[in-house]
Amino acid sequence: MQNFTFQNTTKIVFGRDTEEEVGQYTAEHGSKVLLHYGGGSIKKYGTYDKVVESLKKAGVDYVELGGVEPNPKLSLVKEGIKLAREENVDFILAVGGGSVIDSAKAISVGYFYDGDVWDFFTREAEITEALPIGVVLTIPAAGSESSGASVVTKMDGMYKRDIGSDLIRPQFAIMNPEITFTLPNYQTACGAVDIMAHIMERYFTNTENVELTDRLSESALKTIIKNVPEVLKNNEDYAARAEVMWTGTIAHNNLLGTGREEDWSSHGIEHELSGIYDVAHGAGLAVVFPAWMEYVYQHDLERFAQFAVRVWDVDPDFKDLEWTARQGIKKTREFFKSIGMPVTLEGLDVPADRLEEMAEKATENGPIGNFVKLDTEDVLNIYKSAL
Ligand code: NZQ
Ligand code: ZN
Repeated sequence: MQNFTFQNTTKIVFGRDTEEEVGQYTAEHGSKVLLHYGGGSIKKYGTYDKVVESLKKAGVDYVELGGVEPNPKLSLVKEGIKLAREENVDFILAVGGGSVIDSAKAISVGYFYDGDVWDFFTREAEITEALPIGVVLTIPAAGSESSGASVVTKMDGMYKRDIGSDLIRPQFAIMNPEITFTLPNYQTACGAVDIMAHIMERYFTNTENVELTDRLSESALKTIIKNVPEVLKNNEDYAARAEVMWTGTIAHNNLLGTGREEDWSSHGIEHELSGIYDVAHGAGLAVVFPAWMEYVYQHDLERFAQFAVRVWDVDPDFKDLEWTARQGIKKTREFFKSIGMPVTLEGLDVPADRLEEMAEKATENGPIGNFVKLDTEDVLNIYKSAL
């Protein structure tokens, strides 16, 4: 196990009706709030009304900016910074999923910065200050509700890039599984893949003696594998929705990464897909992750065999470690298919004509990943193997 520090400061408020308490939690941090949300699901399903009522009850003043698109765009972030400054807000409340939360985080760092907020995403500027933010989560997926990361797309050049800092970790995240009852099955499935990917990006590591985090990761994966099919069958299964929602946070609050080197190349490879083709992040990962596994599994057959046996209950063939390892990859892909996810670029409607460009962009700062370092040609091979 490697040395590590672990601190996750986001207060989690979990359970039925908890969004009705958002006013009181917000009032602990600010008095004038930017209420940030997406394309309208929160208005359609009543969450907006409950949040606004709670803010009013707590005496919190607010201005609002909706319209965050999935794969949030830099242009709206800039609009948000301008509005937040004009209105002198001191807190941002994100009501939505990863896209809304990430947009709020970008606004929170841009608020104090005189230059172009994109400078943070290109590493030309360093984050030293940010407005505090809070979250009412409406979809378990990105884990942004307690992560220190934000991913935003700049349409000029189609760059999807991230920033990371403890300063943008939300102060609180309100998580009511009932709010997720209205998710379309496709979004639930995309979220499930993203949650699994966040665990697997950490699971496939070269660090030895990480038994606790291995076993925590395996149970988190099994929880998703068991509960997501139940949720897809019955969208209003509270018990199963709650398991999925809490696992989504645990998958990405960095507990499962403690003491171990993490990989993250599949995310880098996927971000080119959602950056250029605007596909859902989770659907892109359903294509990329098994393709990445096929490409690298021989690097550590034992780890892949352990994954197959412990996560997918594969009956091991002790004489044929490679066969056992491959079964885990096969089961992963089959599971993604079974929950309605595409597992090829064709299924994702991504044509083959820009693969070189995406491979170049994914590796523009050098090789990616840690489990196995991937250069431009490796990334291109992975895209090609997913056609
Ligand atoms: O916009 P609205 O109308 O709200 O609809 C959304 C959106 O269309 C809908 N939705 C959300 N909650 C709903 C609902 N529909 C019905 N009922 C509800 N309760 O779902 C759609 C997708 O929302 P989005 O926020 O885009 O989903 P997700 O949470 O998967 O976020 C994806 C973004 O997060 C980034 C991804 O790259 C992507 O841009 N990520 C952020 C990370 C982070 N900050 O730590 C890590 C992740 O790896 C990921 O990269
Ligand atoms: Zn992700």
